[in-house]
Amino acid sequence: MKRLTVPAIQRRKADGVTAEPLVMLTAYTVRMAQLLDPHCDLLLVGDSLGQVIYGLPSTVPVSLDMMCAHGAAVVRGSYHSVVVVDMPFGSYEASPEKAFESAARILKETGCAAVKLEGGQAMAPTIRFLTERGIPVMAHVGLTPQAVNALGGYGARGRNDAEKDKILADAHAVADAGAFAVVAEGVLEPIAIAMTQAVAIPVIGIGASAQCDGQVLVTEDMLGLFDRVPRFVKRFADMASFVDAAVQDYAAGVRDRSFPTADQTYQPKG
Ligand code: KIV
Ligand code: NA
Repeated sequence: MKRLTVPAIQRRKADGVTAEPLVMLTAYTVRMAQLLDPHCDLLLVGDSLGQVIYGLPSTVPVSLDMMCAHGAAVVRGSYHSVVVVDMPFGSYEASPEKAFESAARILKETGCAAVKLEGGQAMAPTIRFLTERGIPVMAHVGLTPQAVNALGGYGARGRNDAEKDKILADAHAVADAGAFAVVAEGVLEPIAIAMTQAVAIPVIGIGASAQCDGQVLVTEDMLGLFDRVPRFVKRFADMASFVDAAVQDYAAGVRDRSFPTADQTYQPKG
């Protein structure tokens, strides 16, 4: 199977509607990437790995080193999906030049096809700077978790007119600046729908609307592997219980010496 490309993703909305919604999930490790890849159009190496993999309190402390290491693993574990790597907080906001250096490092060290960064109008010049220099950018508007300290939490965005207008202006700004797609996170459904209709690039929703051009979720959340999840997460599996049962069996087998058996041990020949 040949790997999808950024232009192929963009062409999915060529006529103004995405007939078949884009399927995107997060991946941080090689085995998970292998399992998700055949079913997805895009894999996101999200900075949500800060909480999910490293137990950090937010995405703010995530480093470029972490994103590069996990990004490379996910590229090695995938053959079909477009791999997008999040730019971590502090690696791109100061200037377009700084963003280019960070993004170039991510592309060189991971082999991914694109980067994602948070922000709308304020980041538009940076998005333009990167895209004009050959780095495809996915934008991320609405609830932007790297701004948790400024937003004061992770609640839904767009509950008043000023916020609603800002989210729509942000979507227009990133599309005009050349972003190839935009994530809309935690916005009221009517805003997500308006955004999807207003911009020519695919809008990928999370806690947004089924009317978006695609959906993304944190894989560990939808698999039931992470303890605290937002209300917009549907649990498609209860993997934590599955793991718990298997480990309970293993522990019992070790303690009563029923594991390992002859099948799992090496015996002298003859
Ligand atoms: O870091 C992440 O996982 C994300 C998605 C939830 C969009 O940015
Ligand atoms: Na992210």
